[in-house]
Amino acid sequence: MKTIILGIESSCDDTSAAVIEDGILLSNVIASQAVHEAYGGVVPELASRAHQQNIVPVVSEAIKRAGIQPEDLTAIAFTRGPGLMGSLLVGLSFSKGLASALQIPMIEVNHLQAHVMAHFIREKEVEKVLPTFPFLCLLVSGGNSQIIKVSSYKEMEVIGQTIDDAAGEAFDKCAKVMGLGYPGGPVVDRLAKEGDATRFSFSKPHIPGLDYSFSGLKTSFLYTLRDAVKEDPDFIEKNKADLCASLQKTVVEILMQKLREAVKQTGIREVAVAGGVSANSAVRAAFEEHARRYGWKIHLPKLSFTTDNAAMVAIVGLYKYKDQDFCPFDAAPFARVTDKF
Ligand code: KG4
Repeated sequence: MKTIILGIESSCDDTSAAVIEDGILLSNVIASQAVHEAYGGVVPELASRAHQQNIVPVVSEAIKRAGIQPEDLTAIAFTRGPGLMGSLLVGLSFSKGLASALQIPMIEVNHLQAHVMAHFIREKEVEKVLPTFPFLCLLVSGGNSQIIKVSSYKEMEVIGQTIDDAAGEAFDKCAKVMGLGYPGGPVVDRLAKEGDATRFSFSKPHIPGLDYSFSGLKTSFLYTLRDAVKEDPDFIEKNKADLCASLQKTVVEILMQKLREAVKQTGIREVAVAGGVSANSAVRAAFEEHARRYGWKIHLPKLSFTTDNAAMVAIVGLYKYKDQDFCPFDAAPFARVTDKF
């Protein structure tokens, strides 16, 4: 008997549904919400409404592309949190409705656990080396920057995390100051390719342990721009590429320095990266360089699995299904990060 899991992700501004059959991804449909661009960030109320519009067509499309019928589904895995309350509610309510109609179990998934487990998604005819436990995972997104010690799919210990802004937030906020739109991370990455990364230097945090901080970098970036624009109003326009390259270099150095420390402390040399910022070309290049220089065994996610997607929710669903770890039909979403993975 095949185990076919439908994954549903709606924690922020992407509505996504995916189908995994016996560990192999059959479909992964993502509807992004352009409505937020005009506001320079995600507007929670608009996100919930867009999820409501998208959820039925996105799930139907995922089922269709997988070549199955709804009755073939074994269980439904959904993101329970952390995320935006209204957005989570849409995915959760839809999952409840479909699971009760089909009389199949529901499986709750932690969004952060799902990002880490994206490394276990397998696709037809794609060779892939899966991570072996324990490994370290640098989870870097718009809302989180964490170093996680992953001992099994459900034993994940956060050994370092940001005390203020996340890495993606630093990219987005600095990009906003330069007028690059939202989300600015991918634009910084693109412009940085043409720039000189040694041109500007920005402050790096000096905090103990494995924790991160990005607010000092953001302030230092802001002050550099403010002072320079006083002298030359066209400063940003003229120096965009160098600013992006220098900013990106600093973010990557901050991330990798603590990660090296984590490898030293734990003795674990198998290291993965996950979350939206793992799409960044300099982050990926730094991982490859560390693999060469320090002999790390690294795992870089496929680009379509870096940002929010339901394939990663479905893969956690599969692992939990094997453990018969189901959730009650009266489950409520949780907005904040909890230690519960
Ligand atoms: O994991 P994710 O899709 O979602 C949330 O955190 O909600 O991450 C989104 C973040 C944004 O801050 C975005 O700017 C950043 O990932 N990001 C990037 C790149 N692609 C996405 N940052 C730098 N370089 C990129 N190529």
